[in-house]
Amino acid sequence: MFKGDSDSFILPLAAYAESLARQAGEVLISERKNQSFSLDYKRGVELVTTADLAADALIRAGIESVYPDHNILSEESAPDFSDPQALMGPLWVIDPIDGTVNFANQQPAVAVSIAFAVDGVTQVGVVHCPFMKETFTAVRGRGAFCNGQPIKAAHITELRQALVATGFPYEKEGVPHLLQRLQQVMAKVQDVRRMGSAAIDICYVAAGRLGAYYETVNPWDMAAGYLIAREAGAQVGRFAKAKSLMPEELNGEHLLVASPPLFEPLQQILEPTL
Ligand code: IPD
Ligand code: CA
Ligand code: CA
Repeated sequence: MFKGDSDSFILPLAAYAESLARQAGEVLISERKNQSFSLDYKRGVELVTTADLAADALIRAGIESVYPDHNILSEESAPDFSDPQALMGPLWVIDPIDGTVNFANQQPAVAVSIAFAVDGVTQVGVVHCPFMKETFTAVRGRGAFCNGQPIKAAHITELRQALVATGFPYEKEGVPHLLQRLQQVMAKVQDVRRMGSAAIDICYVAAGRLGAYYETVNPWDMAAGYLIAREAGAQVGRFAKAKSLMPEELNGEHLLVASPPLFEPLQQILEPTL
């Protein structure tokens, strides 16, 4: 039987996931320093750099050498999640660079995001921010940390006091609608942020630096952050029912991560904007 959650299995795996994220972070630092990466576009619009591919290859090789039987869902090398059944069993979910546009524009909000799930339930999450020198980590049931220090979501009771983050997809067709949604939110909250890395946005809610974050994203953008935010006491769920049959914790559809008292009020603003 697969003992996915026994300490002797999960703690070394969590340490290994963090070390892979840090190694990938070193690749990103050196690629930026030497300006040795080049740019390309997936599907004509979505930016990808050779640094995304190099970091992905490093993480993938590391997983395959130690856990050859595990499955991998990765934005750059294995992005197909059309069959939710294929996501069962031990699964690594990788975004080698979350914040590629920031990376390409010399900005610091860049993360390597690695999650490990068993049967769709996330056990380990690592979001490493190499340029900001912060590493967010969580193991299921053991709390959430930033650089080894415990973190906690804020307890904010008034929307007016909440700094709220969101993001926008690469395809521009849906943007006018998303801007209308943003307008509804902006009218009620303290202010809004668009940082360019969903993984960091979610960790910032976990660390009490943001009151909430909402967006529809892919599993690799949110899987690690989901666990980190939940372990930090944030409320993690959706502002509207998901259409896909993805496992709950790997599903980025209509994602809402919030300081608990803000979850429902934000849901009430966001749901009618679908
Ligand atoms: C993107 C970032 C961004 C979010 C987009 C994602 P990428 O990921 O997380 O903040 O708004 O939806 O696609 O392309 O930088 O890995
Ligand atoms: Ca991403
Ligand atoms: Ca990415």
